[in-house]
Amino acid sequence: MAILKVARMGHPVLRTPTEELTRSQVRSAEVQRLIDDMIETMQEYDGVGLAAPQVHAGARLAVLGLTPADEGTAGKPGVTVVVNPVITPAGEAKVLGWEGCLSIPDLRGEVPRFTSIHVEALDRQGRPLVIEASEFFARVIQHECDHLDGVLYIDRMQDMRSLTFIREFERYVGTETGAVEE
Ligand code: NI
Repeated sequence: MAILKVARMGHPVLRTPTEELTRSQVRSAEVQRLIDDMIETMQEYDGVGLAAPQVHAGARLAVLGLTPADEGTAGKPGVTVVVNPVITPAGEAKVLGWEGCLSIPDLRGEVPRFTSIHVEALDRQGRPLVIEASEFFARVIQHECDHLDGVLYIDRMQDMRSLTFIREFERYVGTETGAVEE
């Protein structure tokens, strides 16, 4: 396993749409190693998610620091790997919440996201995976899936006035609002 270098905003890889993986590609030693390294990198930098373009890889793949809970759709701590994820909103409702990104260091901003989503993907063995997610879990998945299309959270912000440095965020907004690097 290895900790990978994280691409920062401005690197073209973050604006390049990713390529879907076949099931046999998912199971290849190369992709399995990439997944292991992405999980280690996410955990090293206290991220709650990491998408392949952030580590200079063009695969349609992300790792999440949350996993489906036995009850409910809010998720719980754990690791989930999503390959070729497709998101369908489970309703029109959106909610504003704070986000950060390992590729946009030291900043936070308020981003509208669908409150509840349905996700179809493959897991790291290439098997079908369905996730019903809401609240913060749904936010993390939407943030990571955007990376797979070359989209960053600042593109989704409706009001740039909330863009805040982390130090000022902690001083004036507070940490209890649940913003986390993604
Ligand atoms: Ni991000």
